[in-house]
Amino acid sequence: MLPMTVDPNIEAGAAELRQAVAGRTWFHTIDLGNGVHTPGHKDTAAEWEHLHLPDLAGRSVLDVGAYDGFFSFEAERRGAARVVASDHWVWNWPGSDARGNFELAWRTLGSRVQSEISRSRKSARTRSARRSTSCSSSACSTTPRTQWVTCGGCAR
Ligand SMILES: C[S@@+](CC[C@H](N)C(=O)[O-])C[C@H]1O[C@@H](n2cnc3c(N)ncnc32)[C@H](O)[C@@H]1O
Repeated sequence: MLPMTVDPNIEAGAAELRQAVAGRTWFHTIDLGNGVHTPGHKDTAAEWEHLHLPDLAGRSVLDVGAYDGFFSFEAERRGAARVVASDHWVWNWPGSDARGNFELAWRTLGSRVQSEISRSRKSARTRSARRSTSCSSSACSTTPRTQWVTCGGCAR
């Protein structure tokens, strides 16, 4: 039997990656290749199977609340033509590792998943509602509900 040959560059890369992964807190278990898996709280592979998703080959996928990104990367691996990952809370929360985890996995996998930090609907509404309460123009005839979208009376 021939001895197993190990590429020293791959081994060095895997050791470095293992160290980077170990220094972070993970929600998702993601296979990063070269025997490196993120130690997530979730058994994401089992969860994927449980979802019974249709064949994603050639499809566009929007992953809302992507967290560490397992479902986005898995959709890409399964042939989705375009994947967009978005999140709000855990990608903005001070001290959260999630956005950095997503980026580490993205780089390691050579992923083409697009990502954006979404603005929560609630905070957008709150901002609009605050704006509408400052409208004191007597010419403003819009109801408070439409003022959330746009206040035509005062054009603020
Ligand atoms: C329980 S985690 C689920 C993460 C992942 N989808 C999964 O199934 O493992 C919920 C995720 O939704 C995100 N989230 C909650 N509210 C959101 C909002 N308004 N806009 C975008 N993401 C939101 C959280 O930051 C978190 O990443």
